[in-house]
Amino acid sequence: MLSKRALAMTPSMTLGINAKVKTLEAEGKKIIDLSIGEPDFLTPDIAKEAGKAAIDNNMTRYGPASGSLALRQAIAKKLKEENGVEYAPTDIVVTSGAKHALTIALTAILDPGDEVIIPVPYWVSYPEIVKLVEGVPVFVHGKKENDFKLTFEEVEPFITEKTKAIILTNPSNPTGAVYFKDEVEALVVPLVERGLMILSDEIYERQVYGENYASVASLSPKVKEHTILVNGLSKSAAMTGWRIGYTASESKLAKVLGNISSHLVSHPSTVSQEAARAALEHAQSEMDDRREKYRERRDVILDFIKDVPGIDCVAPEGAFYVFLDISSLREKVTGESLSLQVCEDLLEKHQVALVPGIGFGADDFLRLSYAASMDDIKEALRRIKMYMEQMQ
Ligand SMILES: Cc1ncc(COP(=O)(O)O)c(C=O)c1O
Repeated sequence: MLSKRALAMTPSMTLGINAKVKTLEAEGKKIIDLSIGEPDFLTPDIAKEAGKAAIDNNMTRYGPASGSLALRQAIAKKLKEENGVEYAPTDIVVTSGAKHALTIALTAILDPGDEVIIPVPYWVSYPEIVKLVEGVPVFVHGKKENDFKLTFEEVEPFITEKTKAIILTNPSNPTGAVYFKDEVEALVVPLVERGLMILSDEIYERQVYGENYASVASLSPKVKEHTILVNGLSKSAAMTGWRIGYTASESKLAKVLGNISSHLVSHPSTVSQEAARAALEHAQSEMDDRREKYRERRDVILDFIKDVPGIDCVAPEGAFYVFLDISSLREKVTGESLSLQVCEDLLEKHQVALVPGIGFGADDFLRLSYAASMDDIKEALRRIKMYMEQMQ
């Protein structure tokens, strides 16, 4: 009864963990949940007010398929001022979250059997969305000593006549690694020369801690032509539930993306679009303050991890994740998947929820999200340390 495509889909690892957390909480256990890829901050008040006003002003009817002009103008302004890349409002398609943006982008460029290069570790949904539109994910493993960042020389052997695109996540979920300008340029320019499209997922771009970050499309007009920029308000403005993302691309492609989106969802909620516009126009300094809070937490974690036996990590330069290397436990833990087993132990014995690296294609790792209070982070670290000491 089910299609081959549906049967090829892997259930979400993060939702699986979430279900376990809920079961344990229902049994009365107090879980410190660092598994969630969602800001612990709230939607800025100014965005909430704009959403309420949109309802009161009856902005509750169908709108333009690619998003309201006001929001697309605000996005174009943001991209120009913050990311140094110029798009007309008509080059932008507003979507129901970045996931939807990635889905229409892959639908627009892939024929069945076309290959998409996905750097490993990857965000869990990329391979699933590629398979859903009948593309073929091609995994290229990054090296830990290079913060999992790939070079052109590492990617080149995987390019075939079927390769259409590469998905770059900058900063990365799950590692928090950031390709800096020279690195992303050295990778992307030769890929574009080879005719690849770049799907540049920049959803964590507001959580970059250092200088020298570059939005892919800002590198050159030719790179811009080959790039579909994906971003949204979920992580930057803590607006996960409002479901607003967007694509920015060359104008002919933008028309195709808008067309696909219109047949799928018509357009994202008009109320959410108003809230997103207000966040983009008025909540930038709040977003900057939040980045500093994330940075403080990251620093506390890195400082603590130094003294935990058997664990280390790549120092994250962005996003709100630390990818913990637990390969030292390989000989000590039995079971099919190291990361699943360690996550289960941490959850059941120490009431700390993390995400197993196997879900990101890297079984020697666990993902810790620091989108949580400093108290919770410190207590979780204490428990992780206790677990690791017991395992030595
Ligand atoms: C790298 C990455 N891209 C896209 C998304 C999806 O974002 P949205 O909630 O806007 O669909 C996420 C969410 O976790 C993510 O981590």
